[in-house]
Formats: sequence, C-alpha cells, structure tokens
Amino acid sequence: MKTVKMPLIINTRRLVLRKPRLSDAPMIFKTYACDPKVTKYVTFKPHKSLKETKSFVKRTIAEYKLKRFTFAVESRETGELMGNFAFRIDRFKAEIGYVLAAKYWGKGYATEAARAVICQLFKNSGIFRVWAVCDTGNKASARVLIKAGMRLEGKLKRWMIHPNRSKSPRDCFCYAITRN
Ligand SMILES: CC(C)(COP(=O)(O)OP(=O)(O)OC[C@H]1O[C@@H](n2cnc3c(N)ncnc32)[C@H](O)[C@@H]1OP(=O)(O)O)[C@@H](O)C(=O)NCCC(=O)NCCS
Repeated sequence: MKTVKMPLIINTRRLVLRKPRLSDAPMIFKTYACDPKVTKYVTFKPHKSLKETKSFVKRTIAEYKLKRFTFAVESRETGELMGNFAFRIDRFKAEIGYVLAAKYWGKGYATEAARAVICQLFKNSGIFRVWAVCDTGNKASARVLIKAGMRLEGKLKRWMIHPNRSKSPRDCFCYAITRN
C-alpha cells in the first residue's frame, strides 16, 4: 500500500483550504460553531463558549497526525473564514465532511470544495474510495455529494447520532465515488 500524502493547502477557484490555526477560534465560534442552523445535522452541539471552540481547533490540529485532516475554508477574495472541510484517511479510503457558515450557503461553495478535495485525494495512487454519510434529512448535503460526482450506495439505518435532532442514532445515506 502506497503512503498517502496530502498538500497543506488546496486552492479552488474561489476558496483556499488550509490548516486551521488557534487564532481562527473566535471567527469559527462567531460565524458557525454557535449557530443551531449550521449544527442541525452534525455530530456536535452548538458551541456555548469560545473556550469550547478553542478546544475544537486544538483537537483538529492534533488530529493531523492521525490522518484526520480538517481544513479551514477561506474566501480567496476576502480572506474571510467561511467554514471547514475535513477528510479522514483510512488506508485506501477517505471519508469527507464539511460545514459552512449559513451566510455562504447556496452559492456552490461546498460543491467546489468537495470536487477539489476529491480530485486531490485521487491524485494519491493509494486512495481508491472517497465516501461520506449524511442524515437522511440533510437534503443540502446530499445534493452536494451528488454534484461532486458521488453515487448513493444505500441507507445506513441508525448509523449516526446527530444530537441536535435526537438522542438516538439516525438513518443516514451513504455516498461514494471510487477509482476505476
Ligand atoms: C451542507 C452545506 C455544507 C452545503 O453548502 P453549500 O455551499 O450551500 O452547498 P452548494 O451551494 O454547493 O449546494 C447546495 C445544494 O443543495 C440544495 N439545497 C439546499 N437546501 C436544500 C433543501 N432543503 N432541499 C433540497 N435541496 C437543497 C441547493 O439548492 C444546492 O443544489 P443545486 O445547486 O442543485 O441548486 C451547508 O448547507 C452547511 O454547512 N450545512 C450545515 C452543516 C452540514 O449539514 N454539513 C454536512 C454534514 S453531512
């Protein structure tokens, strides 16, 4: 199995995906981590304090050595912090996930980032599968995955807890794109 190497920066037409910095925490807290609209279908509850966001950023930076890469998503034009885009590499496959602040929704940013990340991942000869799951209620995320070229593989019953929806595990759709 080939060693998987990822760049520290991924550029798209309108976005820069880069390693997070602790100094991002105030913007992350303010723009999306505390917003119940944004956290509706994710695995964490809205952050209640900046301290919580700082711990989150520290954790994401530490996780790089575990091949869990969370990138800060920035506007190329303005440098504004817009959200994050993560992927976890497990040998020959990578799982992706993303969050954007609500004011940036509906402009194709998540799709643009997903396409770039998938392209970058497949430049690695060791990666054969890129996949994602989303809550069956998360229509916007499902649409992003389809627009990024993934195909629906099936419904995973009781797959993931999205604590802002319910305490019990919820059904998710699984999408994937594979190398031929
Ligand atoms: C999911 C998310 C990242 C999408 O970001 P985005 O930049 O708005 O996505 P895009 O603009 O690239 O594409 C969104 C698509 O979903 C569609 N969409 C949005 N809300 C929808 C809804 N309620 N029902 C059906 N489609 C919907 C949009 O119309 C668009 O599709 P189109 O281009 O065919 O019109 C953003 O909504 C978000 O951050 N949500 C909260 C966090 C989250 O749920 N992350 C995913 C966890 S799996």
